[in-house]
Amino acid sequence: MVDPDSKRVALQSRRALLRFLAASPLLATAQPVRALEDLIAVAADCSPGLADAADLIASPVDAINVFDFREVARAKLPPGHWAYLTTGVDHEMGLLANRAGFSRFGLRPRRLVDVTSLDTTSEILGTKLSSPVFLCPAGMQTAFHPEGEAAVARAARAADCLQMLSTFPGVPLEEVAAARGAPLWFQLYTPRLWMLTRRQLARAEAAGCRVVVLTVDIPGYGSQDRLRRMRGPGFPFRTRDNPQCVACHGESRMPQLYRGLRALGADPFEFSSDLMTIDWSYVDRIRDATSMKLVIKGLLTEEDANLAVEHGVDAVMVSNHGARQLDNVLSTIEVLPAIARAVDGRVPILIDSGFRRGTDAFVALALGAAAVGVGRPYLWGLSAFGQEGVEAVLAILRLELETTMRQMGTPDLAAVDARRVRARATYEAAGDGAAD
Ligand SMILES: Cc1cc2nc3c(=O)[nH]c(=O)nc-3n(C[C@H](O)[C@H](O)[C@H](O)COP(=O)(O)O)c2cc1C
Repeated sequence: MVDPDSKRVALQSRRALLRFLAASPLLATAQPVRALEDLIAVAADCSPGLADAADLIASPVDAINVFDFREVARAKLPPGHWAYLTTGVDHEMGLLANRAGFSRFGLRPRRLVDVTSLDTTSEILGTKLSSPVFLCPAGMQTAFHPEGEAAVARAARAADCLQMLSTFPGVPLEEVAAARGAPLWFQLYTPRLWMLTRRQLARAEAAGCRVVVLTVDIPGYGSQDRLRRMRGPGFPFRTRDNPQCVACHGESRMPQLYRGLRALGADPFEFSSDLMTIDWSYVDRIRDATSMKLVIKGLLTEEDANLAVEHGVDAVMVSNHGARQLDNVLSTIEVLPAIARAVDGRVPILIDSGFRRGTDAFVALALGAAAVGVGRPYLWGLSAFGQEGVEAVLAILRLELETTMRQMGTPDLAAVDARRVRARATYEAAGDGAAD
């Protein structure tokens, strides 16, 4: 029998070699999109994304970190679905920035603190969290696994984890709510059409949601590059030309999305770019029309965070949408210190985009976030192994966060404060992180 430790060492040496190869300019020019992903993986010191079938984990319990699910997802998904899941926009500099942003901060551990028992619990807007890591909204999860959001809900239930549900789920909201067995947070995209917005809010309230997360970072459609990447090699742009796609999608390119909108009584074309442009007065209207707590997702500046608080929102969510909308955008961890100073404890701050490690989450918690969202990591888990994959991703992130808290001498979340992080000298942001 092969000793699991020697197997792991062999795997890691193989990955080191692949990392070296991934950094080669020759590969970079041969496969630009893939090479960029690999560069990001190298920057993150993780699985480089060039694993062959022999390196793929066969079971969620074999995973060393969340990137192991990424490779299985890549192998399992059709190219178009993989591209929908993984890509950024344009040159994908935002994807790189989201990972690189963490290197701007260093950890300041304290020693000889009793960390025999750790407490990762907290409460945000009336929702009790067993861990500050939560599941971000992502549309159409049936593209990743037939059970889609229902499998994610069962995993969230098992891990007692907060799940945000997209406006465009692959499984109806009510079914996901039943599978979760506790209130979901409902993510809202809405056009400037009040009758439709009201219907969306009413449906979420009826399904037991107590928090609505209004996503505001899509004022119109983003870059079209993703569509080109979804086509992949030999993959026709129009799904109706590809038999593999037509089997599920039928003749139209995004029929599930259209079906979802029609279920809300909306004409899909009402979601065209002009109508997605809502403003602060529309936020006020939403706030006044619902009993749900209101969170705004997609803020990146202290100016907007201030405005959000002035407009009476209950929490702000710092997000660049996983660098899927605007390229060359600042990473969320870079903007967090300034936003935390502006908000000054008036409302909780949530954050996402690029979080892959327990240490990433720790830095954000120290810089003022109350909770940290992940998107692609759990979708990799879902794509790879369904519910079990999502559970394993959550367990890994939890374990990594706990390991970090132990190393850092922080037995609970209250101890995770700005003194535990310092901006590196190269980063010109005086005051981001402080000494004891
Ligand atoms: C496939 C996919 C679909 C997404 N769909 C939505 C969505 O419907 N609504 C939304 O607010 N954000 C959506 N997002 C953005 C996520 O909520 C989140 O902001 C982002 O994934 C976090 O970055 P990360 O993937 O690097 O963790 C989506 C992200 C992905 C990867």
